[in-house]
Amino acid sequence: MISLNFNPEIDDKKINQLLKEIAHDPMGGWLNLPKKYDMGEFVRIKEAAKEIRDSSEYLVCIGIGGSYLGHRAVIEALRPDSETKIIYAGNSLSRRELDWALQKVGDHDFSVNVISKSGTTLEPAIAFSEFKKKLIEKYGEEEAYSRIYATTDAKQGALHDEAVACGYTRFVVPDNIGGRYSVLTAVGLLPMAVAGVDVDKLLEGASDAAVSVLEPAAKYATMRFTLDSKHYDTEIFASFEPATMYFNEWLKQLFGESEGKNGRGILPDSVIYSTDLHSMGQYIQDGRRNLFETIINYPTDEMNSKIVKAVQIAHAEGGIPVLTIDISSYDERGFGELIYFFELACALSAKMIGVNPFDQPGVEAYKTKLKELMAE
Ligand code: PA5
Repeated sequence: MISLNFNPEIDDKKINQLLKEIAHDPMGGWLNLPKKYDMGEFVRIKEAAKEIRDSSEYLVCIGIGGSYLGHRAVIEALRPDSETKIIYAGNSLSRRELDWALQKVGDHDFSVNVISKSGTTLEPAIAFSEFKKKLIEKYGEEEAYSRIYATTDAKQGALHDEAVACGYTRFVVPDNIGGRYSVLTAVGLLPMAVAGVDVDKLLEGASDAAVSVLEPAAKYATMRFTLDSKHYDTEIFASFEPATMYFNEWLKQLFGESEGKNGRGILPDSVIYSTDLHSMGQYIQDGRRNLFETIINYPTDEMNSKIVKAVQIAHAEGGIPVLTIDISSYDERGFGELIYFFELACALSAKMIGVNPFDQPGVEAYKTKLKELMAE
């Protein structure tokens, strides 16, 4: 269950209108996804996960942005020491980072899950070609191809075409769901299932949330809108659980890419306490007063709850609005609920400021420039 320490008045008529717009948006497929999950695909995901766990010591997950952050967030929070180890690649163009990942896999048995909705993003494409080469060297072409799992568009793109030609096991990123809203599709579910995350429970949590978080998400979006209009233009997501660092990263991507356009949008940043109380804490307590803090308060022990209280009081006294989102369970159900809550709140927030929550023209701009430079 999610509860809030703030209670703004919400405009029901306006919220219902925005919800209708989201439901009818060609990219609004995530809204009803947990309730209408393609069970055939879900069974195939779990079978593939078992196959990978049985055959591999490592699963190399290749992807960037929405094709990477969501599953990493859940895996790091819930199953950081999975039996089949998960390695992430293709989220930078650093040769050093790629070599490190290749060396880490070394002579161990491994499989690859390459994830790209467009199938053309350069960072994952380069990492994939290196890991494919390694697979072929180790296992020969036929077995190598059977160890490649491609999550991409159903009908088009370079990755789709290669997957069909080579017979990789394929999973689909639905047409009506964009990268940063895709964590509850095969994009996130396959790597999570390999890591031992109970994906049934995760989807149950998200499915229940589709009803239960409607009001809290509307309140949170309304609160953000009000703060933005009072010139609080920076939001700090704060957590006291170090294992949720990547959940913060996913949040920054979700809100940054959904809202940051047309000169609008709250700038998202994040901290992990206590660590960051000894760095960013100074600024938050005492720097420019244009920021507000959103504490994601996971269930915790008594000691940690004391520091949550201390920070809430100190930062409020320092003059920044402190919003607290309390989560009742630190498990798959809790994270399913939390993911859905933030997706919904984010889409509503973007709609409130009049920007499209589902496109990312800025991201596409750098991709185009990079391709031009590479062609030169
Ligand atoms: O949210 C988004 O749409 C982006 O962050 C994409 O997920 C990211 O750019 C990766 O794109 P693709 O999956 O096409 O490789």
